[in-house]
Amino acid sequence: MADETRNGVSARAEALNAHTGKQTPLLCEESVPGRRGVLLPKLDVEKTEVPAALLRERLDLPELDEGSVTRHFTRLSQKNFSVDGQFYPLGSCTMKYNPRLNEEAAGLRGFRRSHPLSGDAANQGNLELMYRLQESLEKLTGFDACTLQPAAGAHGELTGILMIRAFHVARGGGVRRRILVPDSAHGTNPATCTMAGYVAETIPSDAAGAVDLAALREAVSGGRAADLAGMMITNPGTQGLFETNIAEIIKIVHDAGGLVYGDGANMNALMGIVKPAELGFDVMHLNLHKTFSTPHGGGGPGAGAVVAAAALADFLPGPVAARDNGRFTLASPAKSIGAVKCFHGNFGVLVRAYAYVRALGGTGLRRASEYAVLNANYLRRLCKADFPTPYGSERPCMHEFTASPDLGNGCHTLDIAKRLIDYGFHPPTIYFPLTVREAFMAEPTETETKETLEAFALALAKIADEARTRPELLREAPHHTPVGRLDEVAAARNLKLRW
Ligand SMILES: Cc1ncc(COP(=O)(O)O)c(C=O)c1O
Repeated sequence: MADETRNGVSARAEALNAHTGKQTPLLCEESVPGRRGVLLPKLDVEKTEVPAALLRERLDLPELDEGSVTRHFTRLSQKNFSVDGQFYPLGSCTMKYNPRLNEEAAGLRGFRRSHPLSGDAANQGNLELMYRLQESLEKLTGFDACTLQPAAGAHGELTGILMIRAFHVARGGGVRRRILVPDSAHGTNPATCTMAGYVAETIPSDAAGAVDLAALREAVSGGRAADLAGMMITNPGTQGLFETNIAEIIKIVHDAGGLVYGDGANMNALMGIVKPAELGFDVMHLNLHKTFSTPHGGGGPGAGAVVAAAALADFLPGPVAARDNGRFTLASPAKSIGAVKCFHGNFGVLVRAYAYVRALGGTGLRRASEYAVLNANYLRRLCKADFPTPYGSERPCMHEFTASPDLGNGCHTLDIAKRLIDYGFHPPTIYFPLTVREAFMAEPTETETKETLEAFALALAKIADEARTRPELLREAPHHTPVGRLDEVAAARNLKLRW
């Protein structure tokens, strides 16, 4: 860009000025030859020549001062929604506030600078933390053993299902081919079955949104039990309802020779109230990056700890943290399915989860779940007129609720979600679970105030009014974002990852 001046102002300044608040100039547009933002330290290694073949003639990196770079990335970060910036009621994702104390703990020099290859003697503190976190999760869920290796909920699911497979094989019963999955399940459940080589067989929901017991009995009847490996089930389910028949469901599967995998991603409703092992589950995962308040979203890093009953403990992936004569060490369970992740898993996430568990203690964790359930029920009540829940709306929900809005005038759940962005709220999860028409799934979490819930309900009421009087406001939303309504299907089909 030429740098002539006009009225004493450079063309570059005019160009930058022309960017409205909506657009962030690209770094290369702000670049000025020779401008520097870093002071490199003095060379402390011997200077060597880089082979000419590896050098480029020109490298068009933007040249900027540090302040401009900081502003650039801060501006970009503010264009996104975040738990720190906005109410984020994304159902099934538990976007709760992440206490800064956890960050402080994960950033402690001893943790930050430790290396898994430096050996058990140097890593006693890390191993103790892992051991104590394993213990806490076992206590909270009632299970006998735990691994912290899996890097996400879905990874925990795969781990648990491979353990079930190993269990059947070790008993001489062969692999068994089928795993039952309710039609309301999170998409990762059937995907996990397929990845582990199983056939995922769908069990329909009944009129109350629960597992249809007659269909379940049919699926395990007669000779069909012989190739049943087990069932995967989430409780509370994705409709936000507690599966009241859970003991019966588990008994039916056990009687047929199968094991029951609990998708524990919804544990935020149950902490300190229900121990899933006591309900009869055999193995389950916990999303430490949801329930135990470590930041997530954008794909990473997480931790999908797996807890298991004694009968499955030997199959856990190794190594797990163990205690031997007062020293902490790593041990591999006798019939381990093998490591599912290198070293200790995502250790920083484990530190954050442990800090959370210790800061709240047993009573605090129970209160967190009680408030999560209270907040979801309060919000559900506030917006019930326009956002009715599909299954017996008088039945209390758990930590989230699924509504089935019908605002008319051609306004769909997608339009409501987009319009919420204009009101400054992250939209809830939409069109999931698949069993609910126009599903709108909100999970406020325990860390939101009464006022925030009321403000959100007010926005929903205004949007419902708009749908009746000015539906185009919804159908063309969002109106106040740097980019408007995107064609998401086209975007997915024609990925453009660079410009
Ligand atoms: C019910 C349920 N199961 C499984 C998962 C998968 O967890 P992850 O995204 O960590 O793989 C989620 C994710 O939110 C979930 O809500």
